[in-house]
Amino acid sequence: MNTQLHNRTPLAPDTVPGIFWCSDLISTRDLGPEGVHAVLHLAELMKARPSVFQRALAGKQMVMFFEKPSLRTRITFESGMISLGGSAMFVDQSRSKLDAREKLSDIAQNLERWIDVIVLRTFAHETIEGMARHASVPVINALSDLEHPCQALADYLTLQERFGDLKKITLAYVGDGNNVAHSLLLTCACLGSSIRIATPKGYGCNPQIVADARKLAKQTGARLEFLTDPGAAVAGADAIYTDAWASMGQEHEAKQRAAIFEPYRVNKQLMAEAAPHALFMHCLPAHRGEEVTDEVMDCENSAIFDQAENRLHVQKSILYLLLGGAVRLPARSAHA
Ligand code: CP
Ligand code: NVA
Repeated sequence: MNTQLHNRTPLAPDTVPGIFWCSDLISTRDLGPEGVHAVLHLAELMKARPSVFQRALAGKQMVMFFEKPSLRTRITFESGMISLGGSAMFVDQSRSKLDAREKLSDIAQNLERWIDVIVLRTFAHETIEGMARHASVPVINALSDLEHPCQALADYLTLQERFGDLKKITLAYVGDGNNVAHSLLLTCACLGSSIRIATPKGYGCNPQIVADARKLAKQTGARLEFLTDPGAAVAGADAIYTDAWASMGQEHEAKQRAAIFEPYRVNKQLMAEAAPHALFMHCLPAHRGEEVTDEVMDCENSAIFDQAENRLHVQKSILYLLLGGAVRLPARSAHA
């Protein structure tokens, strides 16, 4: 299979989806199959012709509250919003939880008076749900303990660029059944693709997420498999994905987890069991020498920086769809 950028029909600006798909993005489930397709379609268009959208969110303001550290998510949301003509503010909540000083509903009812969109990275998924319940403006999940929807959308955009038809490929995820695994699973289910998730016993995916993914898969024809054997998961796969063995907030479990997850390390031997063209994928930050070796991180088929780049395009697409951005269409002959 061709792992170079797949040749797809160029998109025309007048194919921009013109309706809202949901009012918040807390879970991939909020988008559903139609919404996931819309985000990816618009992200492709924004990536190909960024100048068309440079005033699309002019005058709109985004605020971000992060309880955990971030490189990619913070920079791509800020840069994405600014490149759409809007503005971005960042509030560092790493020293105290968002609702420690004031009731969440009071914060929400302040923010909605000033701000057009709220982006949250929190420990508890419920904090993001609570903000969305109380604020009348869109709320976006920039990572919680349960999901990382923006990450998985960028990852599937990366797979689509490399392989074209997502229904023909299999992604193998090996490691912890965590927030990233959950969002990959739900995104795969929305897109009718195929995923195999291998986790140690006791570290599998959340049962409610699995049940919801299975329901979506019934609609789309997606194939979802859950295993414990990393070798069986990666056999013949088109891409191998892993993530930290101990996520942010689980640092105190790192030593105990390292012993359990050792057989799930992605190294040259495990990569060799996948298809010869198989990509290596990771949301980053990676813990080199733990869940992945240096030689795999830095190999020719590593797609890690394409994934990071696509965070920008996917989040611009999400901001646009949630905020109902305006696009001034150029003459048909104009180029971005
Ligand atoms: N992948 C990701 O979300 O990276 P950051 O934690 O740096 O934002
Ligand atoms: N599972 C990781 C993802 C980091 C982007 C974490 O939650 O820390």
